[in-house]
Amino acid sequence: MSAALRVAGLSAGYRGLLAVRDVSFEVPAGTVLALLGPNGAGKSTTLLAVVGAIRRAAGEVSAFGGPLGRRTEQNARAGVTLVPDDRGVFHRLSVADNLRLARNPAGLEPVLDDFPRLRALWSRRCGLLSGGEQQMLALAKALLQQPKVLLVDELSLGLAPRAAGELMPILRRQADERGLAVVLVEQHVDLALSIADRAAVLHHGRVALVDDAAALRADRRRVEDAYFGRTDPA
Ligand SMILES: Nc1ncnc2c1ncn2[C@@H]1O[C@H](COP(=O)(O)OP(=O)(O)OP(=O)(O)O)[C@@H](O)[C@H]1O
Ligand SMILES: [Mg+2]
Repeated sequence: MSAALRVAGLSAGYRGLLAVRDVSFEVPAGTVLALLGPNGAGKSTTLLAVVGAIRRAAGEVSAFGGPLGRRTEQNARAGVTLVPDDRGVFHRLSVADNLRLARNPAGLEPVLDDFPRLRALWSRRCGLLSGGEQQMLALAKALLQQPKVLLVDELSLGLAPRAAGELMPILRRQADERGLAVVLVEQHVDLALSIADRAAVLHHGRVALVDDAAALRADRRRVEDAYFGRTDPA
């Protein structure tokens, strides 16, 4: 079976300078890939290039065997959704209106069960939410679109470890129960590895290491070596 998401030889950057080079990975349906790496390694750039938000200089991206174009709207309709690091929520709208915009035919209820806190904040303007609450809203909004492939850029950004630890299992469950394929960009390595099936570490825009998350949980030194650009001894 073809992977839910397949990225092959992807290069992309800004104003003629490549920030990621020859990046390849696959994410089967129902699995979580943790995309790790230090600041500036190219994690966000990779996600943006996958969904077509920035131009790809080289490489191919496909979802369920079909090529993903460079139109983010079209890719969203094909089931590929990005939760960007700036969250993509509308600050002037209420929580309720933000969620209604996602327009899920099945209604809001199934997703809201995972985010009880959002019910309590129903009519509050999004701009008045705390960082963590905005994070929850962004994730809820993305899940309401019933994506098949979800790319999440730093879910835990600005969150207390406990709050981040509450959101991660939601992604795991979506993978297990709905077959969602997840690419999770994270600074909290242990948290990401705790829910991931596979992990890739980027260093200076290149994939420095890819392996099963279980293998990396058992040998964290390999992750650290890849972070710092030391060659993987394996
Ligand atoms: N809009 C932009 N214009 C020019 N250069 C950019 C832009 N965005 C990112 N870069 C550069 O591209 C490289 C990769 O950045 P990217 O944001 O992908 O890293 P990252 O791994 O997501 O880092 P972080 O963990 O800090 O979010 C960096 O050198 C960064 O300075
Ligand atoms: Mg980033």
